[in-house]
Amino acid sequence: MVIGRSRATPSGRSPEVVLGELLRDQQARFAEIDPGLPRAVLPPPGDVLVVGAGSGAEGEAAAVVTHHSWPAGSAPLLWSAAEVTELHPVLGHAGRAGADGVLREWRARFPGPVRAEADSAAVVTWPSRDVAAARAFLDHGLVPLAVLAVRPPGPPPAVPDPDPALTVRPAVQGDLEACVELAMHEIAYSSMVGGSVLRPDAEAVKRAALRERWTRGEPIWVAERDGLLVGLLECGLTDTSPGTWLAGLLPAGRWGYVNCASVRPGQRGHGIGHALVTTALPGLQPPGARGTYLYYNPPNPISSVFWPRHGYRPLWTLWEVRPASALR
Ligand SMILES: CC(C)(COP(=O)(O)OP(=O)(O)OC[C@H]1O[C@@H](n2cnc3c(N)ncnc32)[C@H](O)[C@@H]1OP(=O)(O)O)[C@@H](O)C(=O)NCCC(=O)NCCS
Repeated sequence: MVIGRSRATPSGRSPEVVLGELLRDQQARFAEIDPGLPRAVLPPPGDVLVVGAGSGAEGEAAAVVTHHSWPAGSAPLLWSAAEVTELHPVLGHAGRAGADGVLREWRARFPGPVRAEADSAAVVTWPSRDVAAARAFLDHGLVPLAVLAVRPPGPPPAVPDPDPALTVRPAVQGDLEACVELAMHEIAYSSMVGGSVLRPDAEAVKRAALRERWTRGEPIWVAERDGLLVGLLECGLTDTSPGTWLAGLLPAGRWGYVNCASVRPGQRGHGIGHALVTTALPGLQPPGARGTYLYYNPPNPISSVFWPRHGYRPLWTLWEVRPASALR
């Protein structure tokens, strides 16, 4: 087990032993609260926190803290703060009190640069159905800014009244600039209701990301009406294999995903998004696939309804506060 700096624990046992025991309890707890979750895994290397509610091992909870700085011009800066401190709780069965304990300890240990940085975030990713922990996250000022939502394989919902003037087709190289424009509309909208950030270089970063997706041969669908591109659905296929970060979030196997969904302002609410999803879905769930996943923002009044209507449900919630110093 590779774990970074660690300190003495309230029960006097080594942090590695406490983490190992709590992980076993956490695996049982995750299986209880949501059968869609993969088996809980150890957090990545970082600073280990262990807190105890009383004497002995009773009520102990732990977490690993990691820190990440995203370089200027990198794609994650389209949806993330530049300096991110992340808490990876290993609560076992400690519930709300355990979550409260590790959140307090995390805040007390914020490094000076994170505390001073305006473009910073404190982030926790946690099973959406663990409402006891959710209470503690809310009490500490964290906001449920995004969810990772999953959909089991299955037929797409029928298009009740398809628009005969609308064509949905795979994007071609000549569509690049229109796709960038559509993607920028999505970032602009999501920056009002989620974690996206409309940075000065966003357009160039998005153009490069779209080009790379083309190079990898991943599916990009566009909707066209009267010669104008009115919708975009940027998708991909991935495999979760043990040891990858995604394996901590999704059961092992093949998954399709939607990276960006955008319909031109003024054209929304007329079934274009629905037509894109129903066309793309079969290719995103090849035989044997576990399903499809995507991220949406619960404060987004359209996507928070649109995706559940298409069969997606929250698996993980990304709790976040910006700047990190606003954590209570
Ligand atoms: C989310 C989005 C891709 C959906 O595409 P869309 O073409 O608007 O979706 P549809 O018309 O197929 O379905 C939207 C539903 O919301 C309803 N709706 C009501 N008011 C709406 C509005 N102002 N805008 C959009 N949808 C609205 C529609 O009537 C429809 O409901 P229905 O299924 O009961 O008919 C699109 O609205 C969009 O680009 N939104 C802004 C960016 C965004 O949020 N992207 C998703 C990030 S995860």
